[in-house]
Amino acid sequence: MDAALRSLLDWYAQVGVDVPDIAPARPSRKSASKPRTMRDAKPAAAKPTPKPREPAFKPLDAAPIAAKAKTLDELRAAINAYDAGVLSDGARQAVFSRGNPAADLMVIGEAPGRDEDIAGEPFVGRSGQLLDRMLGAIGLGADDVYVTNVINWRPPNNRNPEDHEIEMCRPFLNRHIELAAPKVLLLVGGVSLSAMAGVTGIMKNHGQWQEVNNLPALPIYHPAFLLRRPELKKEAWLDLLELRAKLIG
Ligand code: URA
Repeated sequence: MDAALRSLLDWYAQVGVDVPDIAPARPSRKSASKPRTMRDAKPAAAKPTPKPREPAFKPLDAAPIAAKAKTLDELRAAINAYDAGVLSDGARQAVFSRGNPAADLMVIGEAPGRDEDIAGEPFVGRSGQLLDRMLGAIGLGADDVYVTNVINWRPPNNRNPEDHEIEMCRPFLNRHIELAAPKVLLLVGGVSLSAMAGVTGIMKNHGQWQEVNNLPALPIYHPAFLLRRPELKKEAWLDLLELRAKLIG
C-alpha cells in the first residue's frame, strides 16, 4: 500500500474512525532474534535444518503486580520495572502521569507519542498543548487535572496499540484509577473510548456519558484529530461544557 495512504489510514484509526485492518507487521522481540554467525551459512543446495520456533513472548500478568501497589509511587515503580515486550523494548521509558493526583478529573488518553516518550510525561506535545488549552477554556488549570494514558509505552512507529497490549496494561490502569480516586473520567479519543467503555466510534459517541469503573466518563475528540479537523472544535466545545457542568455538579 502507498505509504501516504497507509499513514492517513493509520491516523484515522488512531482517532477512532473505522478503517480496514492495515496494521504493519510487528517487529520481532529483541531477545528472540539471535545474531547470525558463519556457522549459519549453508551451501545453496543443502536442505535447511528446521530451527525450533522461539516461544512467543508472554508478558507477566499485570493484575497481581498492580494489586500489590499501595500508592501511586509504588504503581509507577511497578510499571517502570515491568517487561511489556515490544512496547517496553521499543520505548525510551514508561510514561505514567502528570498533573494533580488529587484532582477530581482524570484524563485518559491513548498512548505516549514521540514527545511523551522523550519527556516521560503524557500529553506534552502539540496535542497535549491543545488539550491543556481546551481544559483551560472551561477553567481547568494544571492543578485541576490528572492525566494518563491507556498504554504506558510509546508503541513502535507510533502505531495503534493492539488489543492484547491494551489488555496487558489494563490492570495497571484500573489500579491507577483506584489509587487516584477521581470523580470523573475524560476519555480522550476513540482508542480510550473503546478500551475503557467498550464502545466504538468517537464520531457518534463523543459527548455521550459512559460509565467506567463506576465513574461517569465523557468521551471527547482527540486533540490530534481536532488539529486536523478544526471545524469539529464547535462540537468539542459543547462536550467541554458538558464536562464542566458535571464537575460543578
Ligand atoms: N496522545 C495521547 O493519546 N496521549 C499522549 O500522551 C500523547 C498523545
